[in-house]
Amino acid sequence: MTHADFPAALLHRLRHARHIAVLTGAGISAESGIPTFRHAQTGLWSQYDPLELATPQAFQRNPRLVWDWYAWRRQLVAHAQPNAGHTALVAIQRHAPQFTLITQNVDGLHQQAGSTAVIELHGNIRRIKRADDGVIVTAWTETEGELVRCPQTGSLLRPDVVWFGEMLPPDALDAARVAAQTCDVFFSIGTSGLVEPAGSLPRLALHAGATLVVVNPEATFAPHNDVYLLQGAAGVLLPQLVAAVWGD
Ligand code: OAD
Repeated sequence: MTHADFPAALLHRLRHARHIAVLTGAGISAESGIPTFRHAQTGLWSQYDPLELATPQAFQRNPRLVWDWYAWRRQLVAHAQPNAGHTALVAIQRHAPQFTLITQNVDGLHQQAGSTAVIELHGNIRRIKRADDGVIVTAWTETEGELVRCPQTGSLLRPDVVWFGEMLPPDALDAARVAAQTCDVFFSIGTSGLVEPAGSLPRLALHAGATLVVVNPEATFAPHNDVYLLQGAAGVLLPQLVAAVWGD
């Protein structure tokens, strides 16, 4: 897409927006080499069963299997670099009078790119907590094949991510809902929108009167008057949009 391909009304709306809110999903990190969840061939859920890996019951059944799977993903994330999509959101934060970044991602790449005050709806894979009381633990030792425990209390350790069937952090969810209801432009970037409650945020924003901008190579949103569907990769489209709106 060139500058001329973005609708002039969208560029005008963004230039004059008082509050821009953004929801991101796995798609924004795809160009950093992190697999999404629902891609038919490469998606994590096409190769692994969420019920075996991403539920409290799975952890009760086989804590070591769950630990190892997250340790593998932590490695992937540790070696990944933010891409041009993440960087473009840092630029939008710089330009917008008010900006809220809400992510379903657990990879921490927004913060690594320089985004601040990121609302993490599903936790962060880089943090480890005790399974029994949720206290964050920063040091532990691992022995091949053995359960990984807190050196202080002996409790099992787990990633600080939200599993299916668990509550989202209430403060994060509240802040996300308030942002959706008070922004004038809401971006939905790289998410299938299939997981609740995050999946409802774009509609919440739309119903509250915001302009919705969807960035995704696939059609995830039905055409609608107040919705701009930007079809393509976030790492390509977002820098072009930033350049078209703010000239950088
Ligand atoms: P999904 O895997 O469901 O969807 C990823 C979306 O990103 C798809 O709609 C793709 O078309 C799109 N996409 C792929 N490449 C892209 C690119 N380069 N630029 C823009 N979009 C691109 O991932 P999420 O919607 O994030 O939850 O999934 C939501 C939740 O389901 C995750 O947070 C996770 C998972 O189970 C938990 O772990 C609690």
